[in-house]
This record gives sequence, structure tokens and C-alpha cells, in this order.
Amino acid sequence: MIEIRTFEGEPEELADFTVRVWRQTYEGKMLITLWSEPFFRRELFDQADGREFLIAAYDGRRLVGSHPSRSLRVRLRGDEIQATWGSFITVDPEYRRQGVALAMQREWARRHVERQARVNFGFQYIRSPSALGPQFWLGQPDRFPIIRKLRLLFRPIDHAAVSQFELHSFEAYGAKLLSTVQQQPVPPRSQSDIRLYRDGEDLQGCVGLVEQAGRRADLAYLWEPPSLDRLLHCEQVSETVVLEQQGRVAGFVNYSFLEILGRRVLRVAQIDLIAFGTLSWHDRRRLLQATLSRIADRGAQAAMMLWGSSYALADLLATGFLPGPREYYYIAAPMEKNLRFDNIHSLQVLLR
Ligand SMILES: CC(C)(COP(=O)(O)OP(=O)(O)OC[C@H]1O[C@@H](n2cnc3c(N)ncnc32)[C@H](O)[C@@H]1OP(=O)(O)O)[C@@H](O)C(=O)NCCC(=O)NCCS
Repeated sequence: MIEIRTFEGEPEELADFTVRVWRQTYEGKMLITLWSEPFFRRELFDQADGREFLIAAYDGRRLVGSHPSRSLRVRLRGDEIQATWGSFITVDPEYRRQGVALAMQREWARRHVERQARVNFGFQYIRSPSALGPQFWLGQPDRFPIIRKLRLLFRPIDHAAVSQFELHSFEAYGAKLLSTVQQQPVPPRSQSDIRLYRDGEDLQGCVGLVEQAGRRADLAYLWEPPSLDRLLHCEQVSETVVLEQQGRVAGFVNYSFLEILGRRVLRVAQIDLIAFGTLSWHDRRRLLQATLSRIADRGAQAAMMLWGSSYALADLLATGFLPGPREYYYIAAPMEKNLRFDNIHSLQVLLR
């Protein structure tokens, strides 16, 4: 008998289960992020609210399903509300179409209501007919509003590696072609004011910059100092390049390292947060160039960012990022009827 309860294992088990099932389901058909133990530990486990939103399905002691989310506060058109994010729901192929995902979702929704989390935010990959997430979420009679249809901005660094990685021949060929005109990232000529984020010293400045950037968004994820600190700097997972003025952080670019499997594995730096404060366009571009050059030195073969999750579009395009096709739905799973998600244009959210 299947039992729905809180996930009992360690981050490694959850990451391994998710990646194993996603590979079984999608390898060769869709790009798959190979979630790592340190990434899942940071994103889903080291949280003040413990494991309340880590729902799992067990057949005896065997893990057969998982539905983890993370709680956060968001500002939705000026109102601060409690919410969660995460779109990792997974069921072992041997147990599919028996209502396991629905059963986890019912428990997940019950806990949201109990803990006054009013909505969950997540992404659905819609470019491939093989994607099962949209069939599950969008096929349900309760409507899950689509907030926006989003695309990625992508900056190849190792064009040959990107070309060998891409599943779509258009992109594979495009990366090859691009290599004839696009250079490897080079650092700006002057970068004595640009450096890596320092724990403790830079946190308050970064909190202020994120807050300021988020105020302009219709929907922004809000960060408490400890969780922002973990996002900005986490061993093996993420780092942040800052530009300082008069001894204080004046702008930053934060990214996480991920491995994505296409035809082969590509090591990618996913830019999660950009906050430029009042930097001039010259400083913004120097900061981005320095970041790309650092990302390349760390062995990433490409950089990417969700388009719509920052205000730096012109700067990203100027440093070689290119828009991909619209391939994600950003959806809301509201727990009550009176939350509205229409007319949300600008976002400060994470691609998870
Ligand atoms: C998506 C997933 C979690 C669904 O798990 P599941 O336990 O098979 O789902 P359920 O049995 O609870 O399905 C509930 C309903 O969703 C819809 N649904 C689920 N899978 C479907 C599919 N393959 N095709 C069409 N509809 C589907 C159906 O309406 C189904 O009800 P029904 O079986 O009575 O027709 C599972 O397919 C999976 O792990 N996929 C790989 C990982 C993934 O893509 N996760 C999504 C991340 S956003």
C-alpha cells in the first residue's frame, strides 16, 4: 500500500531519485537538469521550516514518489504573502497512473492551507510533447493559472560543447555558426573594483539591492538575510560577483552551477539574481563581462538566465546572451480562489 508522508531520507537520496526517474523518462528526448546533492541540500533542506513541504510517497520503505517545495515570502503586486516554490514532482515509472502524484498533491495542498502558504509557484517545460508535468498539472479540473510563458537567455562559452549537447539540430547548428562570430568572454580592462562576494561583509548591501530591484517587479521572491546569504555563496553550488563603490557593494550578479544533460552533459552557470542598483551602463557591462569571464574560468561551458527575471536585458544582450524559444510556463497553484495572477509582467523569481 502506498503511504504519503514527509520525506525521510537525506538530500542525496532525493536528488538521486529525482535524477534517476527523470533520466529514465526523458533522456534523449528533453534536456534534464542533473540535480546534485549540495544543490538540493541548499534549496530544499537547510530551511527554517524543516521538512514541512517535503512530501513523499512510500511503498513500505521504498521511495516511489516525491513532491518537494520550499517556503518563502513573495510580494505580489505590493502585497506580501506566504508562498512556496518548486516544480520537482516525481513518481517512479512503475507506480504511474495510479493516482500517486495526485495523492501527494492533496497532502501538499493540505499542508499549504494549514501553514497559511497561499500559493505555490513552479515551471512547466512545454517545448517537448514528452513532458509529463503539463499533462499532470494542466489536465486537472482545478485551474492552475499560467502567469507567463517564458524563455531563456543563453550565452555559449564553449561553442563546440554546446553544439554537441543540444538536442535540437537548429540550436546545435546555431551554436556552431555562432562560434565564427562570438568570442570567449574576456574580462573588462579595468576590474580593480570587481571581486567575489564576501560572507558577512557584503550581505546587508546585497539585501538592500535585491529589495530595491524587487520593488519594480509585479511579483518578487523576498529574501531573509540568511537565505540570501546561502543563495549568494554556497560551496560547490553558487557564487556572486560584486562591484563595489566607496567600499560598499553597488551591484552584483549571482549564479548557480548546474549540469544539464542533452546529447551530453553541459556544465552551465545559471544566473539567478542580478541587482544593478544605480550602476551606470558602463559599470553594468563591466560587471557582466567580469562575471562571464569568471564563469568561464570555473569551467562552465555556457551561461543562462530566465528572461523576465531581471531588468538587465539590454546588458545581457550586449554581452552575448541570445534569447531561446518560449519553452516554459510559469504557473501558480493557488490554495484559495481570491488570488489573481493576470497582468503580471515583471518578475524577480528563480527558475526552479
Ligand atoms: C508527472 C508525474 C509526477 C505524474 O505522476 P502520476 O502518479 O502518474 O500521476 P497521477 O496518476 O496522479 O495522475 C493524475 C492525473 O494527471 C493526468 N496525467 C498524469 N500523467 C499523465 C500522462 N502521462 N498522460 C496524460 N495525463 C496524465 C491524468 O489526468 C491523471 O488522471 P487519470 O490517470 O485518472 O487520467 C509523473 O509522470 C512523473 O514523475 N513524470 C516525470 C517527472 C516530471 O516530469 N515531473 C514534472 C515536473 S514539473
